[in-house]
Amino acid sequence: MTLLSHPTGEHDSRPFGGRADRNLGMELVRATEAAAIRAAPWIGRGEKNLADGAAVDGMRQFLNTVNFDGTVVIGEGEKDAAPMLFNGERVGTGDGPACDIAVDPIDGTSLTAAGRQNAISVIAVSDRGSMYDPSAVFYMDKIVTGPEGAGVIDLNRPVGENIRALAAAKGVRVDDLQIAVLDRPRHVDLIAAIRATGASTRLLLDGDVAGGINAARSDSRIDMCIGVGGTPEGIITACAVKALGGVIQGRLRPRDDAERQKAIDAGHDLDRVLTGDDLVAGDNTYFVATGVTDGALVAGVRRENGVIRTESLILRSLSGTQRRVTADHLEAKWLDSEAGA
Ligand code: FBP
Repeated sequence: MTLLSHPTGEHDSRPFGGRADRNLGMELVRATEAAAIRAAPWIGRGEKNLADGAAVDGMRQFLNTVNFDGTVVIGEGEKDAAPMLFNGERVGTGDGPACDIAVDPIDGTSLTAAGRQNAISVIAVSDRGSMYDPSAVFYMDKIVTGPEGAGVIDLNRPVGENIRALAAAKGVRVDDLQIAVLDRPRHVDLIAAIRATGASTRLLLDGDVAGGINAARSDSRIDMCIGVGGTPEGIITACAVKALGGVIQGRLRPRDDAERQKAIDAGHDLDRVLTGDDLVAGDNTYFVATGVTDGALVAGVRRENGVIRTESLILRSLSGTQRRVTADHLEAKWLDSEAGA
């Protein structure tokens, strides 16, 4: 097989043998760019709801230009509490593939409001009916690694065992491993257990979507992301991890008896370790993220000389393509609410 094929050759010389198709992520990225651009004026202003609202507005406007029939499975909550991008809302033009869509217009609203790093705007898409329905269980235990973790890590095992097994699979010393964890009181014992192995922690103020993706990426210094975080974020991360060839496992973690009962009534087995395939079935996922503030995954929105620069990551599981897209947007157009990007 060769990358150089002659147009008159006997074999099909078209790229991908004529099977080249549409990459929905290339269109969805305009929606995360818009969300990040709209949120940017709110960076560091202590107004997380206004930042989030601006991001939602921007995302929605551009989502509805995309030819697909999307149902929001993971959105901004129920319709009454969230006027836009609520669970069950249909987005897109209605023409094209039927999809599930998970949105997080800003993962890291508090980071944005405080002017801290690592806030991103995110969309994940998969075939209709393929995303896990967490039935309102807010939190999930999660573990994410790169491909070396396949068949090696197990959420049911103590963290120390997982860390030692991952180091062996990677052929590195345990004390070379860097483990990302949300910096929360609930993680005090987990953090101590990680450090007891000799591995070091990278504590996240917020944003375990970026943390998980960095754990799955081969060109990042993070080896594992572990701990309790949002269930919606877990499903979004699973869409990215599929495209990166990494490993994710999760287990629902109800906050109280009422949430526990709701989950049981909905048929969930709370002891079950959910795999990447449980969180999003099939192999047709898209993940798109644009930086709101600067971070290890993508750079944040920048404004200079009449240009707004965004950086985005577009992942597609079917092809395994990973793209980084830098876009320069004319600021003047964004001042006009009718203008396009
Ligand atoms: P939002 O910015 O969307 O609120 O989420 C931030 C986040 O840090 C997620 O990345 C994470 O999964 C979740 O919150 C953790 O929840 P909590 O802050 O309650 O520990």
